[in-house]
Parts: sequence; structure tokens; C-alpha cells
Amino acid sequence: MSARALIFAANWKMNHGPGAAREYAQKFLALTAPAVDRSLWFFPPAVSLGALSKSLRTRPDASVGAQNVHWEPKGAFTGEVSIPMVMEVGARLVLVGHSERRQLFGETDEQVVRKTRAAIKAGVTPLVCVGETLTERESGRTEQVVLRQIGAVLQAIDGAAWTKVALAYEPVWAIGTGKNATPDDAAQIHEVIRMELGRKGVSVRVPILYGGSVNQENVGLLLTRPQIDGVLVGGASLDPKGWADLVERGSRAKVRPSGGYDLV
Ligand code: 13P
Repeated sequence: MSARALIFAANWKMNHGPGAAREYAQKFLALTAPAVDRSLWFFPPAVSLGALSKSLRTRPDASVGAQNVHWEPKGAFTGEVSIPMVMEVGARLVLVGHSERRQLFGETDEQVVRKTRAAIKAGVTPLVCVGETLTERESGRTEQVVLRQIGAVLQAIDGAAWTKVALAYEPVWAIGTGKNATPDDAAQIHEVIRMELGRKGVSVRVPILYGGSVNQENVGLLLTRPQIDGVLVGGASLDPKGWADLVERGSRAKVRPSGGYDLV
């Protein structure tokens, strides 16, 4: 069984300004070495992008991304930042449609599509987030909601462009609550997403990350599921030592070809 390339993505949300980002990077770099089969993605607040990308420049395994961008390159959009602007300070990735953007700031499927399209065109990788709320899950609509969110992007982005896209399944009820989806539940939704991509003719292997209360204790088990290509982590990524430990533990999770699962 060949090793998988895993993605460990840290979403700092509204934490760590430029000074704290520099300090974080220094500590984190001292605790981890690059490994060929994993990528480390960091999403700091926009004001910390420059400081963090500079601090991580010696590490080819680390990339930095924006948590949110506007789809227009410039203009009268007070308070927004554009893709060329975040690229200028080192961003190679952008988070799109995070549930906090959707829930707290009213971001729609249509805006998610515009941002995704703009990111691909500009040459940064969009990490598009989807996921159901607790009410949607409890009323048995998880698949319907996730497929609607994915469907909006599928309709607008053609097959070849999907080589530049990553997805994250983040059930809203699991974010910051300490309740994570079980590895089987997460794997099942990842499978549904993968099948939908296949049905719509997307043949490239789009990475699908899981997010929602991932921590040092549960990361290993989640990553034993072959459907899960990495994790997108909020709270447990804020401390450099804890994040380094989570990355190491996750990297040791092995998928067994027999279909049984193992933690090594
Ligand atoms: P938590 O890991 O804090 O639950 O946040 C998940 C998340 O929203 C990552 O984008």
C-alpha cells in the first residue's frame, strides 16, 4: 500500500496577528521536519499572511492561504480584500464558503461559486467548504444539503479546472463544539461527494478534507479512513506544539488494504 499524501490544514479564524504568527512559525518549525507525503496549509487572518508566509518560506511543505476573499480583483468594496492582494503577500490558497462565512455573514452558494471561479482563474487553490447544520442532519437532509452545495460549484467549474480545487466536509454542528463526526460518518459523506464528482465527470482526484472538532486524540482514527485525505482544524491548530503533535499523530495513521483499520 503506497502512502497517501495527507493535507493538514490549520484555520486560525480570528486569532494570531502578525507578531503572534511569527512566533508561532518559529516554534512550529523547530518541532516538525518536512515530509514528502504531507502538506501543511495555514489560514491565518489576512493581516498575518505576509508575516506567516515569510516565516515559513524555508519550508516547501508549508503553504499559506486566505480565509476569505472577494471575487473582484479591485473596486469599491469597503472592508474586503482581493485575490491578487493576498497573493502579493504570499497566499497560494483560499478558503471559500467556510460555514462561519455562510452562517454568520450570509455567504450564498452563488458567492461561493464566484469566489471559487476567481481563485482558479488567478491560480490559487480554493479549499471549498460544505456541510450541514444540526437541524439539517436531524431531519435527514445531510446528503441533500451537501450535494446542493457541491452541485453549485460543479455546475460552474468545468472538469479540467478541478485539478486546482480542494474540498472540505465540515458539518456545522461539529465545528467548535467538541462533537466530531465519527470516522465512519465522515467517510460516508466523503464517499457521497466523491461519487457525485464522478457522476458529473470530474475524474481528477480532488482532495476531500474533514473538519469539525478534530484534535490530537481523534485525528489518527479519522485518517485511517481512506476516503479522508486530510483535516481542516480550527481550535486544535492554535497552539504550535499541539498542532505539531496533531500533524505527527495524523501522519502515523495507516489505512489497511484489507479494509480493516489500524493505528500505527
Ligand atoms: P474546530 O476544529 O475548532 O472545530 O473548527 C473547525 C473549522 O471550522 C475549521 O475550518
